[in-house]
Amino acid sequence: MPGFELVGQEERDAVLEIFDQSGGCLFAHGFHQIRNGRFRVREFEAAFAEKLGCSHAQAVSSGTMALVAGLKALDVNPGDEVITQSFVFVACVEAIIAIGAVPVIVDIDDTFNMDPTALEAAITDRTKAIMPVHMLGNPADMTRISQIAKNHDLPILEDACEALGAKYRGQYCGTLGDAGVFSLDFQKTIVAGEGGVVVTNNDRIAKYCREYHDHGHENNPDVPRGCDTRTIPGLNIRITEMQAAVASAQLKKLDTIVNINRRHKSIIMDAIGDLECIQMRRLTDEDELGDTIIFSFENAMQTRKFLQLYTESGYFTKNIPDAIDWHFSGTWNHMFKDVPAYKDSWGEQWTKSAKLLARSVSLPIFLKTPEDQLTQMAQDVKKFVLESI
Ligand SMILES: Cc1ncc(COP(=O)(O)O)c(C=O)c1O
Repeated sequence: MPGFELVGQEERDAVLEIFDQSGGCLFAHGFHQIRNGRFRVREFEAAFAEKLGCSHAQAVSSGTMALVAGLKALDVNPGDEVITQSFVFVACVEAIIAIGAVPVIVDIDDTFNMDPTALEAAITDRTKAIMPVHMLGNPADMTRISQIAKNHDLPILEDACEALGAKYRGQYCGTLGDAGVFSLDFQKTIVAGEGGVVVTNNDRIAKYCREYHDHGHENNPDVPRGCDTRTIPGLNIRITEMQAAVASAQLKKLDTIVNINRRHKSIIMDAIGDLECIQMRRLTDEDELGDTIIFSFENAMQTRKFLQLYTESGYFTKNIPDAIDWHFSGTWNHMFKDVPAYKDSWGEQWTKSAKLLARSVSLPIFLKTPEDQLTQMAQDVKKFVLESI
């Protein structure tokens, strides 16, 4: 689970240092006389890019706005189609709709991520970009998705908001497509309260995002900021030095967080991993994040029985099913009034995904759970599974 569990003295010291030594409530620019040479947003961006092994990282105000900036940078315009998947966070489709583009939503497969076959079938001559989402820490099938994108000459914007720290074939999720986005909100692998990051190896995309996130400012070194040059309209989706200070302290804990996730997950998997009566989510890479366990029963009745036993004992689920209304497009009656393809039929779409989700549960892995409690949880989960079938 998220980095907020490990917020401690390091984050506190980082924020106090800003107030004590470098000007308090600043943003990324200017105020040289009071910031003592510290540019914390820029320092965070450099450290993030270096950690992920990519050329550019642009910090922005949220994962949602990172998606908006990424789509705009890929030149997605009103009326263009963007393909994403049915099991996502609502923000993924909101971002597409916010820029006037058209969401084309395809089913998930047993990875609980975009089904590459469904992706290929959904491509039209109006498709402008593909947005796979690495849900709950498991990388999407980037080998097939990248091949399909290449065959059709389409760019990929990876949503890695729920997968910071996961790797696919040795490379961090978010760095495999043309651009990738992350969230730093309170529930993510590392947190800053709110915040997001766009990463890319493409100089043009990086330049677009840098300018877009700051009202179009080019930060031309030859003129004062008040007379700055600009070529594109943007928004204010900046983060503050305070958020960046917290995010930098958290970034240093990323490996620790991922290692604890994986160790804790393995304790539970040792108990249930080979139960034949449930089907474990298919992981695309052993370097997945490890902060969630998803499995499916044969039918929804068994799942409901398990959930009753599990939640009555004081345990929680993570999104499936407790927050499925925010994570499955088949429940979004508020979203599609301007999307002709789904306007009158959103509830009848994505039946393959709906059936899979109705049979499934998702268990969160917490960082601070003592190992004896995890062992108890593992035994309980196994018992509840066996009592449910
Ligand atoms: C997959 C996914 N994409 C995008 C977002 C949006 O991130 P934020 O909350 O920072 O706007 C989230 C947040 O939960 C998410 O899980």
